[in-house]
Amino acid sequence: MQVHYERDADLALIKAKRVAVIGYGAQGHAHALNLRDAGVDVAVALHAGARRAEQARSDGFAPITVADATQRCDVLVMCAPDEVMPDLYAAEIAPHLRAGQTLMFVHGFAYHYEFIKPPEHVNVVMVAPKGPGKALREAYTKGGGLPCIVAVGRDNGGAEALAYSYAAAIGCGRAGMIASSFRVETEGDLYGEQVVLCGGLTHLIRTAWEVQVEAGTPPELAYFDCLHEVKLLSDLIHERGIAGMHLAISNTAEYGEYVTGPRIIDARVKDAMRAVMADVQSGKFAAQWMAEHRAGGPNLAKLREAAAAHPIEEAGRSVRALLNGGQSGDRLRR
Ligand SMILES: NC(=O)c1ccc[n+]([C@@H]2O[C@H](COP(=O)([O-])OP(=O)(O)OC[C@H]3O[C@@H](n4cnc5c(N)ncnc54)[C@H](OP(=O)(O)O)[C@@H]3O)[C@@H](O)[C@H]2O)c1
Repeated sequence: MQVHYERDADLALIKAKRVAVIGYGAQGHAHALNLRDAGVDVAVALHAGARRAEQARSDGFAPITVADATQRCDVLVMCAPDEVMPDLYAAEIAPHLRAGQTLMFVHGFAYHYEFIKPPEHVNVVMVAPKGPGKALREAYTKGGGLPCIVAVGRDNGGAEALAYSYAAAIGCGRAGMIASSFRVETEGDLYGEQVVLCGGLTHLIRTAWEVQVEAGTPPELAYFDCLHEVKLLSDLIHERGIAGMHLAISNTAEYGEYVTGPRIIDARVKDAMRAVMADVQSGKFAAQWMAEHRAGGPNLAKLREAAAAHPIEEAGRSVRALLNGGQSGDRLRR
């Protein structure tokens, strides 16, 4: 793995450009604020009626339109949702693009699967921080940073050095800027979130909780066993690796892991993981997701509703209120 640090990047390169961050959500706000603190000339571009426009204004930005940003700026940072980007690009960016501009992605979905095909005279790079925007901003304000993946899609001259300069400006040079490709970043991100981080974890938790409740455990206590303690274990794994985590759990828990883990994550599950990887690599998942989005997201809406109505959520509200001295403390919003 080739890793670069702050000392390998030339901050002056990005400081010589006008940068527009398109979108002010989870990633966009962190990129825009970190860039500004690093002394970069940065504007925020948003669509009319954007929910985060007020937030951008209270953070000291004066949002401009995406078409305006494309006309005025040298580097366009794509921080709109992946599924929105292709139509946004076609309507507001493509008609105004000129030679020498750089399209910067923070995740490779739209470019890797060719939902966006920029013209030859435009540079295409990616700086993908390995973590949520909130963590990117928090790490930066504490003097640190998150690692990131840097990739070059098209370099008409100076694009790679500019990407590292940008990555250093948002703080990633303090943690490590990993040279990779759009393909590796995109496939890895989708596979990891589907199989482990989002899809695998939530379904493991819910199914285990259902079985425990069926077996007679009160829902709130099952919530502690199957969900609440996930953080404690994942923190240990994060800090020390799996073998290091074993040193902090009981021998009983460790033995249970060895004999029961393979009964749950068996050869059938491994085959299913291979099938997911195949769908990610072939672009089947990407095509399915874009079709869902373009149809107005009917299945997504139903699935969201069902997930929110699952009885584990009621148990979770009770447990969080209990831990919070009787106050719910929940501030859930999209
Ligand atoms: N969530 C993360 O921490 C994370 C982590 C790694 C990579 N990424 C990547 O970061 C990118 C952005 O994702 P996100 O999670 O930050 O998205 P997000 O939180 O949903 O924010 C998207 C932003 O784009 C704005 N937007 C929506 N449609 C637009 C349009 N037509 N024109 C201009 N702006 C528009 C939204 O406006 P409103 O203010 O109206 O909502 C919002 O400000 C994606 O490529 C994603 O894969 C995200």
